[in-house]
Amino acid sequence: MVAGSRGLLALLFVVSAPRRLQAGELGDGCGHIVTYQDSGTMTSKNYPGTYPNHTVCEKTIRVPKGKKLILRLGDVDIESQTCASDYLLFTTNSDLYGPYCGSLPVPKELLLNTNEVTVRFESGSHISGRGFLLTYASSDHPDLITCLERANHYLNTEYSKFCPAGCRDIAGDISGNLVDGYRDTSLLCKAAIHAGIIADELGGQISVLQRKGLSRYEGILANGVLSKDGSLSDKRFLFTSNGCSRSLSLEPETQIRASWQWVSEMGEEVHWSPGHAQVQGQDLSWASRDSGKNRKQREWLETDLGEKKKITGIMTTGSTQSNFNFYVKSFVMKFKNNNSKWRTYKGIASNKEKVFQGNSNFRDPVRNNFIPPIVARYVRVVPQTWHQRIALKVELFGCQITQGNDSLVLHKASPNTVSATEREDEMITKSVPSPEVPTGINITAVTILPVLLALLLGIGIFAAFRKRRKEIHMDQLRPRKQTVGSRSNIPLPDISPLSSPSAMIMKRK
Ligand SMILES: *[C@@H]1O[C@H](CO)[C@@H](O)[C@H](O)[C@H]1NC(C)=O
Ligand SMILES: *[C@@H]1O[C@H](CO)[C@@H](O)[C@H](O)[C@H]1NC(C)=O
Repeated sequence: MVAGSRGLLALLFVVSAPRRLQAGELGDGCGHIVTYQDSGTMTSKNYPGTYPNHTVCEKTIRVPKGKKLILRLGDVDIESQTCASDYLLFTTNSDLYGPYCGSLPVPKELLLNTNEVTVRFESGSHISGRGFLLTYASSDHPDLITCLERANHYLNTEYSKFCPAGCRDIAGDISGNLVDGYRDTSLLCKAAIHAGIIADELGGQISVLQRKGLSRYEGILANGVLSKDGSLSDKRFLFTSNGCSRSLSLEPETQIRASWQWVSEMGEEVHWSPGHAQVQGQDLSWASRDSGKNRKQREWLETDLGEKKKITGIMTTGSTQSNFNFYVKSFVMKFKNNNSKWRTYKGIASNKEKVFQGNSNFRDPVRNNFIPPIVARYVRVVPQTWHQRIALKVELFGCQITQGNDSLVLHKASPNTVSATEREDEMITKSVPSPEVPTGINITAVTILPVLLALLLGIGIFAAFRKRRKEIHMDQLRPRKQTVGSRSNIPLPDISPLSSPSAMIMKRK
């Protein structure tokens, strides 16, 4: 539109606004908004439900200077014939796009001349209308799609698209999983987040392969997205990945330790000990000693991969025994190398530790991916919240450091983000003495103190442990499935009756 009509229209719409917004104010009509350096997603309030009466949502979105903005309008449904009090409008420093409302034609995509646009949505009094959903990206990503595209929108057997940041929490189903593929009616970008191909905070490029459908699709929880079971479909789709997703837990040099180690009086590992805490195993999971809330951040399950590796994902389960309804609902990840300090895995867009959504029952495995990958020899799962008691099995996925190219992709997408690899290396060069050249006093001080503490702690724990063993009939807590055998040697978690109704029942029998 030309500049003259822009002035007139702008006057018309600004004057008719029920409220004037201060600079930077969003108004109360905005819904889900996720913005990252290069892309993002924005909806009206309650989307895809009906937007409220008399609201305004105004937000300026931008991509890096020197780039141009692409807007994709996934859905515009605004009840009005005249666009007088209900409309969607885009303003750049030179142009005006819209207003859009009612049955006026809405372009699917706007390629702007600038890197910045102000989105304004306003509503008066109305009965229905979903409002809007839009996504944006810089012109580096001409294959941008919205969060609403499903695989059955595309006919090709192979294609690549760019998903914006912020599709995870948009309403809409996905069915299936990473390994078997997804039903073709699934939302593409949400499925890519579920599969661990892209992070919700970042968005990114996805490569899709279309295949013949399956008779049934199995849903699981992964990366905070629940996929549903699905029925027979003609087609399904899979994502191509960089191949850095082998199971690391099965490699011979891998060892598992924990903050609490169950051992028999003979000193051998028994049920609930960390050595068996593998997702593939039939054994009981690892379980913590007690279930008090103060165990947050104190209990951990550690995997030593034998050498520094690239870790791209983790699968966790709870106890996997129906007699023990124990599982970890959320956790954080810590990692370190031979001589470095433990570091907490952080989210991409925030500087806070990333809290992963864990299990929601004792049985089903839940997957989470690390984007960017963790590069370390040791990793710990540190439970934050749990049901009844901390109980865990883990499986790690990844590859040798030299394999897989996902960190390269990440660098390209977000030049300002420091990857886990870089942080780790930076820390090693700065603060940790090289293992090859021990520098006397420093090393001694660093190593002796923890050893002493561990020794003291060990004595205390051993004493407490012995005492407790006498007080409780632990046999009664064993799952019925277990065979009778070294019965008297098997200590099991002493479940405090207050925190575990099922244990109470078992004890009384
Ligand atoms: C808006 O207000 C009208 C009249 O008060 C009411 O009938 C309508 O349901 C309201 N719409 C919404 C979305 O709340
Ligand atoms: C870490 O220790 C292991 C064995 O203890 C050794 O093989 C490896 O080279 C060490 N890695 C580094 C980076 O020092």
